[in-house]
Amino acid sequence: MALLIKNGRITTATDHYVADILCEGETIAAIGRGLAAPAGAEVIDATGKYVFPGFIDPHVHIYLPFMGTYSKDDYDSGSRAALVGGTTTLIEMCCPSRQEEPLSGYELWLSKAEGLSACDYSFHMAVTRFDDSAEKQLREIVKRGIASFKIFLAYKGAFGIDDYELYQTLRLAKELGVIVTAHCENAELVGAMQKRLLAEGKTGPEWHEPSRPVRVEAEGVHHLMTFAEQTGAHVYVVHTSNSDAVWAAAAARQRGVHVWIETVAPYLMLDETYAAKPDFEGAKYVMSPPLRCKRHQDALWNALASRMISTVATDHAPFDYQGQKEMGRGDFTKIPNGIPSIEDRVNLVYTYGVQRGRIDLHTFVDACSTQAAKLFGLFPRKGTIALGSDADLVVYDPQYRGTISQKTQTMNVDYSAFEGWPIEGRPSAVTVRGAVMVREAKFVGQLGYGKLLKREPTHV
Ligand code: URP
Ligand code: ZN
Ligand code: ZN
Repeated sequence: MALLIKNGRITTATDHYVADILCEGETIAAIGRGLAAPAGAEVIDATGKYVFPGFIDPHVHIYLPFMGTYSKDDYDSGSRAALVGGTTTLIEMCCPSRQEEPLSGYELWLSKAEGLSACDYSFHMAVTRFDDSAEKQLREIVKRGIASFKIFLAYKGAFGIDDYELYQTLRLAKELGVIVTAHCENAELVGAMQKRLLAEGKTGPEWHEPSRPVRVEAEGVHHLMTFAEQTGAHVYVVHTSNSDAVWAAAAARQRGVHVWIETVAPYLMLDETYAAKPDFEGAKYVMSPPLRCKRHQDALWNALASRMISTVATDHAPFDYQGQKEMGRGDFTKIPNGIPSIEDRVNLVYTYGVQRGRIDLHTFVDACSTQAAKLFGLFPRKGTIALGSDADLVVYDPQYRGTISQKTQTMNVDYSAFEGWPIEGRPSAVTVRGAVMVREAKFVGQLGYGKLLKREPTHV
């Protein structure tokens, strides 16, 4: 059935105008004033509302075996939460262990999404071991449409790789034209500092940040930059939490390194004082790299406004407080790392970014949708509103006023890191390839509608 969205304030990374959008089949068929509705078409009146391109979250964990447990969402709750919050495409980190074969890992991750996801999805393929067999399988995975890798310079003994593997991964990525997303922290330093703090009796969640300070992350970025410079690979620093790390990447960019920077919603909204909440409540706010002080938060907003930071993702990694975060009582190194926010990212960045005057509307759309589409081989199918693009649209109500609460959230986790936070706007309708998936914050779509997005290497 056709869909006509009338009189919306169409807002992309570059444009802002009032018009109607006609969606036919899965794509945008016409954009103009006074478009007539074809017979049988549904009409949505978007007068006074924004119409944004579907938002893209390029850093998500849905299925994640990690730190002795599993993240809580599956593609049922996770994709519904994404859509309710305006995210129509997610890119999940496919993270098999060092012992697993990359191809069977990829097939396992894919099997969790196929037939269940309501939103469109793709994967970044984690390289957690590099040898001849892994290389062969990685080439095959890229051929199957997964045109990006993920590496961890942290999590020694779990997902982390050594410098030889880092070099080989970047060399392969350069050859294949795929981009490498990277978690940058110096694993040796983190391990040593964790040991020292625990030996001093510093066991609570407030010691997570001192165990992985700003410079340890900046060193990780600098390290990656050196390898990217030597290989010519294109790299993307995930979940950048502080100004020193941003500058390490920016300095490399000036030397000609092909690097892009991601930050995530928790760093823009929360600071280190949350992890120091009494009675172990701080565990809800433990993620890696850790939440930082206000000075770094301000610097991240400024780097986003100046477009030094390309994207705002979530690093959605949901672990319950009860039974999961609690595993780290008496030892902060055992608190499963992660903060859930796939449902809240768009409303938070709109409210605390656009509404507070920190960024403009175009930067908001660019950072939360368009840049991810461009970097990861989805543009212009996704990430913009144009003839022929997928009809992934968010009709956004800037008059809405409400608050975030665990009680009303779709994410399958027993707390919200943003409990009681006011929001000033929310999606009133969300479409994926022309199908209405959300109306007034209620999921009305179909599980299993989401498609795997095959992506071509774009960094050749
Ligand atoms: O704390 C985090 N970030 N948890 C998820 C795993 C990762 O490092 O992205
Ligand atoms: Zn990470
Ligand atoms: Zn992550």
